Amino acid sequence: MCGIVGYTGKEQAYPILINGLKKLEYRGYDSAGIALEQENKIVVYKTKGKVSDLEEMLKGKNISSHTGIAHTRWATHGEPNSVNAHPHLSASGKIAIVHNGIIENYDVLKDTLIQDGIALKSETDTEILVNFIEKVKEETGKNLFEATQLALKRVIGAYAIVLMDIDMPGTLVVARKGSPLVIGLGRDGDYIVASDASPIIEKTKTVYYLDDDEVGILMPGEEMVITTLNNERINPKLTELDLTIEELEKGGFDYFMLKEIYEQPKSVYDSMRGRINTEQKIIRLGGIEPYENHILESDRMIIVGCGTSWHAGLVGEYLIEELARIPVEVEYGSEFRYRNPVIRPRDVVVGISQSGETADTLAALKLAKEKGALLLGICNVVGSSIARETHAGVYTHAGPEIGVASTKAFTAQVTVLLLMALRLGYLKGTIDRERYEKLLYELEKAPELIEKVLQTDLQVQQIARVYKNATNFLYLGRGVNFPVALEGALKLKEISYIHAEGYPAAEMKHGPIALIDENMPVLVIATKKGNYDKIVSNIREIKARKGKIIAIVTEGDKQVAELADHIIEIPEASEELSPLLATIPLQLLAYHIAVMLGRDVDKPRNLAKSVTVE
Ligand code: AGP
Ligand code: GLU
Repeated sequence: MCGIVGYTGKEQAYPILINGLKKLEYRGYDSAGIALEQENKIVVYKTKGKVSDLEEMLKGKNISSHTGIAHTRWATHGEPNSVNAHPHLSASGKIAIVHNGIIENYDVLKDTLIQDGIALKSETDTEILVNFIEKVKEETGKNLFEATQLALKRVIGAYAIVLMDIDMPGTLVVARKGSPLVIGLGRDGDYIVASDASPIIEKTKTVYYLDDDEVGILMPGEEMVITTLNNERINPKLTELDLTIEELEKGGFDYFMLKEIYEQPKSVYDSMRGRINTEQKIIRLGGIEPYENHILESDRMIIVGCGTSWHAGLVGEYLIEELARIPVEVEYGSEFRYRNPVIRPRDVVVGISQSGETADTLAALKLAKEKGALLLGICNVVGSSIARETHAGVYTHAGPEIGVASTKAFTAQVTVLLLMALRLGYLKGTIDRERYEKLLYELEKAPELIEKVLQTDLQVQQIARVYKNATNFLYLGRGVNFPVALEGALKLKEISYIHAEGYPAAEMKHGPIALIDENMPVLVIATKKGNYDKIVSNIREIKARKGKIIAIVTEGDKQVAELADHIIEIPEASEELSPLLATIPLQLLAYHIAVMLGRDVDKPRNLAKSVTVE
């Protein structure tokens, strides 16, 4: 995910572009750049770092122009640096592009460019795209608009793009598939385009939300032309914006956390994107492919993480041991780094980290590297310290997670871990074909299933109202949902400041059941798959002591429904998928209780988004 802005019209482009980037920086902030049309050339300025670094770089430079494009990046292909930053120029220097999204068949397109002798400067999929568009333009003699229509027919992936071509002065060409792009129609015939409306609303409230597989050409003072990829004219339906800028940055949500909870169908999909060949039922994790045999021959896998990432690691332990039969241990980064652990060269150590900067996790990985282990990373930030420390890895593509409480990163991490477990089990032959295909099918349906669980939001809000003044909560789960119980408890603790504990449900009788009385809400994950009968017994034990039960159940469940004080139904799915689904109501419960208590949900007290110190 990243932020894109483009402008063409009578005004100076630079202030509109740079201020627009500042409003979009929440969408990605590892590097930034701007391209300006000046006389008969395109000048590009770009840098690693924030928009303010770009602004500093441009001091004293000639920034006069009426047409320009700009970008604040959240890298997916190629580390954050000034070369990989956008905008990217085509080989001729005539076309500039900014792009939000992932080009899945970039390697196929790259091969055609290499054959033509095109020298690429960056590691990005975006530079390949702009050169492929130029190749089509040169081979067909079409203008940029028509060449973009033709080229995009051969592009697989997600994109929102804005292009400039020195052969078409003052013109912007836009296109989208899977990533958002909004066109603002200025009062005096100018155009401003952006990833969301927050950079636009100051100039105009009249906008058009470009739709998938649409291409547009914008020339100041002329009516915008929007077509399909087959050049069929679209009659654009304009709308009038009525949101504040603050609301726009949060996509209309009150907090980034809620926005990110609701982004999970897309972030889970993006974490699978380009990694599952549905027809052949093959999983490909390019980042670790060269090490697959090493992993399969390893003695064990040690997963290291902190907080929510540690919880994801616990889910990974269940999944990888169950499906790939590789011994897995899960360690807190802070403990592992200091307890003089036994680490051998035949160990694989996996670091899980949303930020990729957590000091304890990084230190644990460095220790493991010194002892000769193979290091893998599961990070959400391309080029982060942990990503660079590991030998290989698989990025989650959850996009920037702004809320301090991790939500979409957790489900993205679980998605990647399930892909890894299925891939390794498939290679090792430890999972039968039918089960493999069933789980793969369900995983591809996961975004839809998550959408369905999000529909319980209002119901969860009503439950939150009942228990918002509780002083303690217990979260119980079994099997792969035990880590989900831990995660749910952490969410509540860190944003509502209510004490909560997660436990394996069967552990209740070993002490915690002494806590149970009518003032103790107990959230139980009681989905049908897994040790259902045992969890029902645990619920009965709690009921017998007047505990209040909030149960996450498989839709249609009757047995628990008769026992629990509240039930939240989630779609039926294999146990391996349930962490992706059961987590959602727990995130929503914590969110609503925190809001009702007037907490600063996105920036809870005492916490930071990334714990880069010990
Ligand atoms: C989770 O909601 C917290 N924000 C925190 O526990 C977090 O998961 C932990 O600090 C690890 O961060 P990382 O994933 O960036 O390494
Ligand atoms: N895939 C492109 C890159 O890595 C765009 C990423 C984004 O959306 O910011 O540069």
